[in-house]
Amino acid sequence: MTLPAGVPAIEAVDVSRTYELDGVSVPALRGVSLTIDPGEYVAVIGPSGSGKSTLMHLLGGLDRPTGGRLVIGGRDVATLSAPELAMLRNQTIGFVFQAFHLLPRTSAVDNVALPLVYRGIGARQRRERAAAMLGRVGLGHRLDHRPNQLSGGEQQRVAIARALVTDPAVLLADEPTGNLDTVTGEAVLELLERLNAESGVALVMVTHDQEVAARARRRIAVRDGLIRSDTLHDRPLSGVGRGPATLDDAPSAEPRFASGRGPGHPSGGSGGAAGATGRLSGSSEAVPGGAG
Ligand SMILES: Nc1ncnc2c1ncn2[C@@H]1O[C@H](COP(=O)(O)OP(=O)(O)OP(=O)(O)O)[C@@H](O)[C@H]1O
Ligand SMILES: [Mg+2]
Repeated sequence: MTLPAGVPAIEAVDVSRTYELDGVSVPALRGVSLTIDPGEYVAVIGPSGSGKSTLMHLLGGLDRPTGGRLVIGGRDVATLSAPELAMLRNQTIGFVFQAFHLLPRTSAVDNVALPLVYRGIGARQRRERAAAMLGRVGLGHRLDHRPNQLSGGEQQRVAIARALVTDPAVLLADEPTGNLDTVTGEAVLELLERLNAESGVALVMVTHDQEVAARARRRIAVRDGLIRSDTLHDRPLSGVGRGPATLDDAPSAEPRFASGRGPGHPSGGSGGAAGATGRLSGSSEAVPGGAG
C-alpha cells in the first residue's frame, strides 16, 4: 500500500490502554506518542509486562485505545466501525507473531492467500500472488505443505509471506524469532530486514534481544506503559548484527525528533514522508508519555 506523501503510516498521540480485569483496572499503556513513517526499521524493547504487545496490538488496529488518538494510514480509528477498522488493517498492516498462528490444516499457499480473500480477489489470482510471495521468502518449493510438515523457521516464513501478501505499509512483528533457535532466528531476522529494505514496508519489531535491537536504526524503549526513549542510531556498518553498537554505547545515538533520516536507513526513505507532525509527535524522548 502506498500512502499519500507526507502521511505517516501510523501516528499515536497520548495513547493509553487500560484493561479491566475482575473489577480491577490494569493500565498497560499510560500515554504513548509516536509516529511510524514509511520504510522505517524500528525495534521496540522493554521488560516483560511493560506494554510492548499491547502497543503493537493498538498500532495494528487489533485493539482500540481507551484514551488518546490513534491514526492508521491517515485514518483516525475512533471514527471507524469494526468492519471499517478490519478493512483498514487488511490494507495497511501485516502481523507476525512469536507463535506463527497459521491455520493448521491448511496448506502454506492457502494460509498466505487468506488475507486476499477479504480483498475480493479471485481464487486463481490469490494462489498466484501467494505462491509468488512464498517464493520471495524462499518457500516456493513448499506451497502445498501444511504447517506441521514445515520446520519452525519455515512456518515463520509462511507467516511473514501471509503478512506481506497484501503489500502493507507496516509490518508489526512481536518477538518473531522468540520460538526459533539462534541460527533459524537469524535467518528469519535477515529475511525481515531484506524485505524492509527491498519493499519499503516499515518494520516495527518487538525483541528481548539487545543485539537484535541494535540492528534497527530506531529504537523505542518501553517501561511501565510509557516510552522511556525513542532514538535514532547509525546501523552497524560491517554487516548486519556484527557491529559493536549496543543500546548503551551506540556513539551516534540521537533523539529521534532531533533529526531526519541519516545514512544507513534501509529504504533511503522519502524526505517528504516525515513531516512536521512526525517530528513533533516523535518527541517522546525523556518525556514519559510524550506529547500528552
Ligand atoms: N487482556 C488483558 N487483560 C488484563 N491485563 C492484561 C491483558 N493483556 C495484558 N495485560 C497486562 O498489561 C501489561 C502489559 O502487557 P503486555 O502483554 O503488553 O506486555 P509485554 O511488554 O508485551 O510483555 P512480554 O515481554 O512478557 O510479552 C501486563 O501487566 C499484563 O499483565
Ligand atoms: Mg509481549
